[in-house]
Formats: sequence, structure tokens, C-alpha cells
Amino acid sequence: MGTLPKFVIGNWKMLSEHAHALKLASEVAAYCAEHDHPHVKTVICPTFTQLVSVEEILKDKKLAPRKLALGAQDCYPAPGGAFTGDISAPMLAEIGVRYVIVGHSERRQKHNETSKFVCEKTVAARDSKLTPVVCIGETLSERQDGQTAHVLGEQIARSLPENFEGIVAYEPIWAIGTGVTPTMEGLQDDITTIRKLLERHQPKTAERIPLLYGGSVKPDQSAEIFAIKGVNGVLVGGASLKAQDFVKIIQSAPQG
Ligand code: PGA
Repeated sequence: MGTLPKFVIGNWKMLSEHAHALKLASEVAAYCAEHDHPHVKTVICPTFTQLVSVEEILKDKKLAPRKLALGAQDCYPAPGGAFTGDISAPMLAEIGVRYVIVGHSERRQKHNETSKFVCEKTVAARDSKLTPVVCIGETLSERQDGQTAHVLGEQIARSLPENFEGIVAYEPIWAIGTGVTPTMEGLQDDITTIRKLLERHQPKTAERIPLLYGGSVKPDQSAEIFAIKGVNGVLVGGASLKAQDFVKIIQSAPQG
């Protein structure tokens, strides 16, 4: 596990208008072009309408995907067909997308996405050679009821296909967009639990699965989060919308 790189993934959600997205992408790209962090993989996930323009910005800067890669926020399981409003994994791959977030709690909750459906998306991503970033996480009431491990176990068992190759992001729902983060001791316990669940459900690939934390990650505590054993990166929402904050988070990742 010590050999896994550290990931810093920015999830721009539906929070950035086009002009802002282009400026943000240019600023992050300029930083990544000028600074080498060989052990850190940085990914930005704009909304669908911004992907092509952002890809052009990365191309202009001649940025290798290992320095800064493009991600999408979702994909549909089917490769194509009559699915009004959906975007398939092959469509993302053909415009230069390398990563795709699936099963974000905002989609599980607001679009009633089940873990089975998330698993289908994960398979579609893999089939298009995209790296899936599969999100899991419990609600506050599940946590207060002592259900955290059970909920995470169910999500891991059902959202990941056999021999899963990709990234898992632990995002406790009560920490997303709230400014509240778990205590570092609490987070260490949850990460240890998730690592054990991955070993149980993904015995062949668990040690190759980067495990990210997400939920109100900010530059002033990201170094502490990176220091947690078993954490291989962060999935950042709000703080990824300001280039300065996002860059500080990249800089806070262990550089060796
Ligand atoms: P946040 O979002 O950093 O704004 O809490 C994280 C996420 O939902 O991926």
C-alpha cells in the first residue's frame, strides 16, 4: 500500500459557471505545468458541459495526465442508445476523460441511485478504460444508530464488481459541504474499518485500491488527513473551486 500515489481530486459539482471553470482550469493547469509532484495525481472533475473546453486547456499546457488529468462527475451504464439526458463512459473516454466519479451521495440520494446501479456504472467505466472513483458513506442518523460499518459494508459489497480496479472515496454524508469533518481519531477508525471491508470483499485487488477521504476537506487540515494510515488522497468539493486552496491541498500531500 505504501507504493500507491496520493490523489487530489476536485469535484466541481454544479457549482461553477463556464467562465469560472475555464479560469480555474487554467490556473490549476498552470500550477501543475510548473511544479512537479511526482507522487501526487491531481484530477479535476468539471461538469459535463465544461469537459471539452477544459481538456483543450490541459492540451495547450501539454500536461501529461499523470500531472493533471480530467475526470467526469458521473456516467450512464449503457455504452449508447436512447437515453435522453445521459452521457456514456465511451463518450467520456473519447474526449480525453480518464476518471469518473460514480455513486456520489448526491446522486444516490437525489436521484435514488442504488448500489447495484452504481456497480453497473463502475463496470461501464472500466470497460471504457476510465478509472472509477466510487463514493461510499453513511448519513448522520445511520452513524448515530451505530450502523456505519454495516452501511459501508453493504455499499462496498454491492457497488464494486468482483476484482474491482479503481478508487474508493469515503465521504460521510454529514461531512459533505457542512464544514464539519470527523475527528482524526474517528476517521482513522473508519478508514481501518473500510480497509478491512475491502480486504474481505475484494481479496485480489484490495491492496491496489486507493482509498480517499472526502467531506469538507480544506487546505488547513488536508495534511492531517493525508497522515492517516490507509488514506491515499482526498476528494475535494468546495475547496476545489478556488485555485489557491486546491493548490495548497496538492502541496499538503506527502511528496515522497
Ligand atoms: P465538500 O464536497 O468538499 O464541499 O464537502 C466533497 C464532495 O462531495 O465530493
